[in-house]
Amino acid sequence: MERPSKTPPQRPSDAELDALRVAARAATERAYGPYSGVRVGAALLTASGRIVAGCNVENASYGLTVCAERNAVANAVVEGELELRAILIDSNQLRGLAPCGACRQVLHEFAPELWVAVLRGDEVQMRPLSEYLPDAFGPQDLQDRQPER
Ligand code: THU
Repeated sequence: MERPSKTPPQRPSDAELDALRVAARAATERAYGPYSGVRVGAALLTASGRIVAGCNVENASYGLTVCAERNAVANAVVEGELELRAILIDSNQLRGLAPCGACRQVLHEFAPELWVAVLRGDEVQMRPLSEYLPDAFGPQDLQDRQPER
């Protein structure tokens, strides 16, 4: 299993963002959110140029709900796509939804500088993940083990 590279990913082009929007919208349509009524679709752009999507999947136990972003990451991993460039998050919420804290952490594992695009109405707001999760804990903290105090 290859670890993702440490070089910051290339910003997605307008054409790539359009393709991400289409894929994320299709995922939103398939989202399973009967309890909250919130439907979320997330589309990841990988370094090889592929798009892998995920949607939120709720559960009657509530706590077992999994967000769209984390399902998209799981789908990318099973496809052998560990190098991630960008994620676009679509939802049925007019003002859009930023990724939750748990999803920020899971995305950080694979691409600390991932481009995170949130669809707000017709506007796309794009920032690097490091702005959403500053001073993050990640794989590096376990690789460069510090001396014990
Ligand atoms: N949700 C996501 O899919 N992604 C987020 O980043 C925020 C929240 C989902 C989980 C749940 O099904 C619904 O939105 C309401 O929290």
